Amino acid sequence: MTTTTHVNKAVIPAAGFGTRFLPATKAQAKEMMPIVDKPVIQYIVEEAVAAGIDDILIITGYTKRSIEDHFDRQFELEQALIETGKDKELAEVVGLASLANIHFVRQGERLGLGHAIAVARNHVGDNPFVVMLGDEFMAPRTNLLTEMIQTHSQYGRSVLALQEVAEDEISRYGCAKPERISDRLIQILDIVEKPQPSEAPSNLAVMGRYVFTPEIFDKLEQVQPGVGGEIQLTDAIAMLLADQAVYGVTFDGGRYDTGTVPAYLETIVELALERESLREEFGDFLIEALQRHGRL
Ligand code: G1P
Repeated sequence: MTTTTHVNKAVIPAAGFGTRFLPATKAQAKEMMPIVDKPVIQYIVEEAVAAGIDDILIITGYTKRSIEDHFDRQFELEQALIETGKDKELAEVVGLASLANIHFVRQGERLGLGHAIAVARNHVGDNPFVVMLGDEFMAPRTNLLTEMIQTHSQYGRSVLALQEVAEDEISRYGCAKPERISDRLIQILDIVEKPQPSEAPSNLAVMGRYVFTPEIFDKLEQVQPGVGGEIQLTDAIAMLLADQAVYGVTFDGGRYDTGTVPAYLETIVELALERESLREEFGDFLIEALQRHGRL
């Protein structure tokens, strides 16, 4: 790995209002909503760390203070845990403050995902970096981010995560026009944000993991508001494509979406059942609840 392609920085945009979860998100960050007993943002930070990232910039805004507190020391709590002999919990809360070097910057005006990433320019500088969207995370077994970083190291170019979706779902995502290089690697020939199914160039949707070359920042400065009147990251990628190749790594499963209420509930149930200490009792409860509601 050369110094020019070594990736150790990640940017997590987490400034959105979380309107799909109102009123829960009126006064708290949607990224702090728990999946079983961990907030979503912690899964994302752990995913970054597992891929070798040690410098994380979280783009926040008003109502997001709790994210900073979560990754800080909390001496009163630590003292209480020491006094009550709760060693496991103590190790867990102390460890959160040393997972990585975590930095915060506020987006100020919320002009869209592309604008949020542009805010990271000063921090990232002239280095390749990862973007991890704040309302989805990948199961550790996927190794997706590691694979994307390896692909970046090989080609020295930007790499996006892509997953096939049903035709009627493509309008929720960025959509790539692919040229297949190998089984899981494609070159992206074109990309469009939230196309109608009839206009979609493929069924390959961009999922919220990206490795970017720093040239994306120039494009983010030039790009005009797109879908929804927002500065779209996808539109900046389309501009980048004209100058340098952009690749996509496809993957099948292991993505946990927390961006909508139904997806959030599904993710909680999935991860609760994956937890050995909960599987039996919670599984029995689910079966009983389904029967009670006439669904089984
Ligand atoms: C964003 C991106 C989109 C991407 C999606 C993945 O959309 O703009 O290109 O496919 O995340 O979740 P959002 O979900 O913020 O509307």
